[in-house]
Amino acid sequence: MKVSWVTSGSTGISRVDYGRTPGLYDRYAEGTSESYSFLLYKSGQVHNVLLGPLEASTLYYYKCGGGGPEYSFKTPPPVGAEIPITFAIAGDLGQTEWTSATLNHIQQADYDVLILPGDLSYADYYQPLWDSFGQLVEPLASSRPWMVTQGNHEIERIPLLIDPFRAYNMRWSMPYKESGSDSNLYYSFEVSGSHILMLGSYAKFDRGSNQYKWLLADLAKVNRTATPWLIAVIHAPWYSSNSKHQGDGEQMRKSMELILKEANVDLVFAGHVHAYERTAKIFDWKADDCGVYHMTIGDGGNREGLARERGGYTLQIGTPEQDTDCCTEPTGPLPPRESQPAHCSYKRRKQMASGPSLRKWVKSELVCLVVPETGMENTVVESRPVDVDVLMGTSI
Ligand SMILES: [Fe+2]
Repeated sequence: MKVSWVTSGSTGISRVDYGRTPGLYDRYAEGTSESYSFLLYKSGQVHNVLLGPLEASTLYYYKCGGGGPEYSFKTPPPVGAEIPITFAIAGDLGQTEWTSATLNHIQQADYDVLILPGDLSYADYYQPLWDSFGQLVEPLASSRPWMVTQGNHEIERIPLLIDPFRAYNMRWSMPYKESGSDSNLYYSFEVSGSHILMLGSYAKFDRGSNQYKWLLADLAKVNRTATPWLIAVIHAPWYSSNSKHQGDGEQMRKSMELILKEANVDLVFAGHVHAYERTAKIFDWKADDCGVYHMTIGDGGNREGLARERGGYTLQIGTPEQDTDCCTEPTGPLPPRESQPAHCSYKRRKQMASGPSLRKWVKSELVCLVVPETGMENTVVESRPVDVDVLMGTSI
């Protein structure tokens, strides 16, 4: 597990003291820190410290920078086909009241790992919003691994002045080297019976690209006995019936879809479109028993609101009977794997308080969290200056 946090100015040491008993830190680890500039903005020191080896499925208590408040995290389950796991998956979070509602709901779930398919802070060049986003997600991100991939709102490129993803790469350093990747924008990781491909919708993905070559090499290493579940995460969906962002993922689909199909990928999760949608098994815009299920879960609560415009775009997935599987409601079961029963729970905001989740069979237990229509106004959480230490979170 890696712990990441920001300290104001150049203060603080990159050290984490930790242990399995509250207040008793019998181990420590040291790491590194860096800062970055973005026009007139100068970030605090971003610290990254790798802990371990750690016991799986174990609660650890820790402090950052040689002091400060005590935090705790639970390590994920070990790799193994029969070991249950719960993922929380929510895209396009932003920092609004809706975001807070989504985070509150996730916090109530007994999940192991959070997966975020891009569009995190919606800082959109205004760097203090990265700091306030860190403060907003700290209670959750400090307690479970948060595994992210990038969205278009992370690009923040200024030609000739600032390279793309400067803040994202600095603040959300993922374990890409461990999976043989050469970029923080695409990588893979394994927990329980799952191999997760965190793909980069905004990194090069053509057949001559490093991401493409890495994906082929990574898939060749997957052991479907140990990790029978193979899941891909992207930002811009390859399939959507929503009028918003039509075609944004099409070039990536054309480049990489056949690889995923031939690797027998089970599910693709995407964000970007602020709505929920699940396809039937699909390949090249047609229903295909050898294809892949695609789920869009981009309605995590950001300031842009929901993508409401459907119609005019119909997924061509075969017969009318099959078309009913292309749904914007969480109905209809996905067939279970023979040896790996699992659920996918789709949470509507109106049901968050007390209503039962709608469950359908998938594989390992997956929890998809969404925030559909409620009538609630989106309110951007005000940015706060970073004058105190900010813990951003943990990752595997
Ligand atoms: Fe997006």
